Amino acid sequence: MKVEQLPPVRTTLKDTSKHPYMKGAWAPMYSEVNATDLDVIEGKIPDDIDGIYVRNTEIPVHAPLARYHPFDGDGMLHTISFKNGKADYRNRFVRTRGFQAEQEAGQALWGGILDAPGTSLRPGTGAHGELKDASSTDVVVHAGKIVSTFYQCGEAYLLDPETMEQEGVAGWGPIDGVSAHPKVDEATGEMLIFNYSKYPPYMHYGVVNKDNKLVHYVPVPLPGPRLPHDMAFTTNYSILNDFPLFWDESFLKQNIHLARMHKLPSRFGIIPRYGKPEDVRWFEAAPTYVLHFLNAYEDGDEIIMDGYFQENPTPTPLEGAPKGFSHMMAYLDEHSFKPKLHRWHFNLKDGTTHEYNLDDRVLEFGMFNQRYAGKPYRYAYSTMTEPGWFLFKSFVKHDLHTGESWTVTLPEGRYASEAPFVPRINAKDEDDGYLVSFIIDENTQTSECILIDCKRFDEGPVVRIALPHKISSGTHSVWADRRFIRDHQLAE
Ligand SMILES: [Fe+2]
Repeated sequence: MKVEQLPPVRTTLKDTSKHPYMKGAWAPMYSEVNATDLDVIEGKIPDDIDGIYVRNTEIPVHAPLARYHPFDGDGMLHTISFKNGKADYRNRFVRTRGFQAEQEAGQALWGGILDAPGTSLRPGTGAHGELKDASSTDVVVHAGKIVSTFYQCGEAYLLDPETMEQEGVAGWGPIDGVSAHPKVDEATGEMLIFNYSKYPPYMHYGVVNKDNKLVHYVPVPLPGPRLPHDMAFTTNYSILNDFPLFWDESFLKQNIHLARMHKLPSRFGIIPRYGKPEDVRWFEAAPTYVLHFLNAYEDGDEIIMDGYFQENPTPTPLEGAPKGFSHMMAYLDEHSFKPKLHRWHFNLKDGTTHEYNLDDRVLEFGMFNQRYAGKPYRYAYSTMTEPGWFLFKSFVKHDLHTGESWTVTLPEGRYASEAPFVPRINAKDEDDGYLVSFIIDENTQTSECILIDCKRFDEGPVVRIALPHKISSGTHSVWADRRFIRDHQLAE
């Protein structure tokens, strides 16, 4: 392995010992490197994959002005590139306007999601309005570029997936910003986006085409400010949402952002991909909150959508949490808010919804073969977390046709990152490929990349590749085939 170290970034965070999400697998790291020809710890790097895995992490760079939440951290992206049985690694902070401003100032300039109004020293951005656009939530690959986004809606930042060169703010970004979880349809090269805000019409939806142009952008009027996090799509439709978990209106008048469950149903808005506001059809469903959806597809008169239905979207404070952190830690603990793999059927003919759980275990952060995005699919891959913590411990493969499932659990002290599906070159079947994930090993204070062969799922990792440094935990990730990145070759 050959490692090139980049000049250090400026950090002023000294004491990380008192915050549960500033240590262990969430300990911040600041070094940026280019590493080529990574060493193999065990197994052999397969030569039947060609593409790039991108993983997003959240890093506190400066001492917080008040209370730090891990989702306030600055976005750092890590990539591993596979080609001809060899692997390279690169990582970079996303040079957002906020990151650059705090580098210049040598201190934090913005408060975080948990802070009281007026904490920030500069005006903020996004739906909340007082936060830094940290670009630290989600990452996709579209039109040959990495697209990094923030959950409170902000600018989309672009990086070159091969070199990790910063390419700045996407020109297509609407003035209202873009939420995390834009969806890329690899069959058409289009990217579907949405945003939300505290001001009417409260939500917009749009389409960015494969040539990086915002070719469609429409308001999706809602009854008030909402907190959507994700969306879903089929070949012909996009599915937006209006959940009963949103900022309490009376607190909002005092600029306090306190989300609570309201006595309302969940609503899903189905719009043709290029539909107008009047084309949106709303379907009511059981009250819940959904952080993430899996796939959706059309089946006769129905649209079928899979996602993770939270049984307890407003959990009680986490027992045993360090003093002052029990509320925040409950909202980061899946075993507290209990997301279950769930299926909704929306009948376009009679307007009814039919829904049920597909599994009773606590699962989230699902992935599937993106060549089946928007189409009928059979295999879903979810993760399980360490009770009490936002740390991935297990991967679960589901055969949605038979209901069968397989689980791989990591040994003690090892934590994973969200694990997308990597199709083999010339794959014949939907599950002909690997799951890819970065591991943080707290026993050895190192990180590695693993691949799990999805045809032999419960045998566990088939290769372990050393990374040049221990990375931090984070939220999302993506896999992109090189032919999709470089040649804009679309999926069949
Ligand atoms: Fe997310």
